[in-house]
Parts: sequence; structure tokens; C-alpha cells
Amino acid sequence: LISLAGTAQAQNYPSKPITMIVPFAAGGPTDALARVIAQKMSEKLGQQIVVDNAAGAGGTIGVAKAARAAPDGHTVLFTHMGTLAVNIALYKSLPYDSQKDLVPVGIGGTNPMVLVTKKTLPVKDFKEFAAYVKANQKKVQYGMAGIGAASHLGGLMLNSMMKVEVLEIPYKGTGPALNDLVAGQFDYMVDQAVNVLAQIQSGNIKAIGVSTKKRLPQLPDVPTIDEAGLPGYEVTIWNGLFAPKGTPEAIVTKLNAVLGEALADEAVRKRLIDLAVDLPTKEESSPQALGALLKASIEKWVPAVKAAGVQPE
Ligand code: MLT
Repeated sequence: LISLAGTAQAQNYPSKPITMIVPFAAGGPTDALARVIAQKMSEKLGQQIVVDNAAGAGGTIGVAKAARAAPDGHTVLFTHMGTLAVNIALYKSLPYDSQKDLVPVGIGGTNPMVLVTKKTLPVKDFKEFAAYVKANQKKVQYGMAGIGAASHLGGLMLNSMMKVEVLEIPYKGTGPALNDLVAGQFDYMVDQAVNVLAQIQSGNIKAIGVSTKKRLPQLPDVPTIDEAGLPGYEVTIWNGLFAPKGTPEAIVTKLNAVLGEALADEAVRKRLIDLAVDLPTKEESSPQALGALLKASIEKWVPAVKAAGVQPE
């Protein structure tokens, strides 16, 4: 009966506009990716998808809102592994269980990060950057999007491997943080390439290193952080679509299929590839694959963050 009811619901689905919760500020990387994907999914579903930027507290406010929403497919969540995996190590108590309160729909893509500084920081490469930060720990400030954010993970692993302690400036997302970095209001951040490429290319901020084991085609002259001085440094961020627990399986299947169609669209692919997004293969695209990726990310990052010595809030 339950599954018959679910199938009937799926046939009429979506019967009204869908809210896509993004747990970070508008204009940042999660928001940008969500909007590209939402627009194409909305065309395919024949219903509007409204992005709700429920930002704050490192994304935990928005994820909690999604976890409590009616499980009828009309509220979905677009977020990243920071809010679902990394922050388990960083909060004494989270307002949700990412594996129990949400169901995976499908991965959106995986993003490299870039260590960027304000234009006026007096360093020209990673060695000078590391020396400068070490020598100026009392005054250097790095920006991030709250505890457990992707930019927090990128920054805390960097700072821990450089053996420095610097002041952390939290924002509701790296969209607003980037504006302040361009304005020279803090010194550096580690952010997803999707957010910072344009400002690097316009010369408004400096790129010091990339977080992947290989250089990015978009920034061929920027070394990897690993090659430039911190062997072993590697952080990439996956983003994915989730639904509240209890969302009928038939609706999850439909959303997964439409997400797959959106990501297969030529214009969407080109836009995302230009933004350095690593798109999923067919095998990586199922709800089950996203569930397995979440589990693997918890197993990888919770001990790594604990080992970096960051105390939970
Ligand atoms: C993060 O650091 O978690 C992201 O950049 C958040 C965002 O989308 O602003």
C-alpha cells in the first residue's frame, strides 16, 4: 500500500514548485552550482525550483531545515560533504544525522579548491606564503564559511600541515567572503575553484596553490599545494542533492533521473567543466553511490580532522 501510494504520488510529482535548500549564502559556490542544476532540472520537471539560501553556522542551519521538511519531494537539499561528513568531527552535537535524516538523490560533481590571497599580500609563491604566515601568525587572518564548511576543511588542513595558528574569520558563505578578500579585508582562504576562478583570472586576488594532486587546466601556472611545499595535501569537495528521510523511493528515482539529464545537457556540462567541476560517471550517479560516498567521506575526514587537532565546538 505504502509503495502504491508512493508510486501514485510520484506520477503527479511535482505538483507544485520545489524548494531547493542551499545552506550557504547566495553568490557562493554551493549556490552557483545549485542554480545551474536547478534551472535545467526545473525545465525538465515543468515546475519552478526556488533556491532557498538558508545560510549560517557552517551550513548546519539549512541542512537541519531540510531534514525537518515534509518528505514529499517538494523540498530538496543541495549541499556538500563538509556539512554532512566533516562537521561530525567539529560539533559536539549536530541538529541532524546526515545518514539517517536525509536520503541521497545524486552527486552534483566534485570540486578542486584553490589557496587564494588578497592581492596585496607580499608573497609570490607558496614558500613565501608559508614563511609569511608563520612569521605573522598573530596578525594573519583567514576567511571561511563557518565550522565544517568546505573552506574550513581546506583551511584547517592547510594550517595544521603548515603548523600555524591564525585568526579565523567566519562568513555565511564564501560568496560574501570572496568580496571581502577582493577588498583586502583578510589575508587568505582555501575555496572551491568554482567561486574564485573569475577573480583570479581578473587579477583581483592571487592564486598560490591548488588542492588537487594535479594542476588545473584553468590555472596551468599555479602549482599544486602538494608539489609546492606540503606533500600529501589534497582536499576536494563533492556536492550532492539530498531529500528528507521518508521521501518516496519513486520520487527519489525521478529526481535522480532528472538530475542525470540536467548534468548530461551540453550547455550545463560545458559551464560546469569551465568552472573546474569534475562531473560524475554513470556509475557514480546513483543514489546508492552518493550514500556510499557520504559514508566513505565520514570514514576519511572525521579521523583526519580529529588528527589535525581541532577541538569540537
Ligand atoms: C564552503 O566553504 O563551505 C562553501 O564555499 C560554502 C558556500 O557555498 O559559500
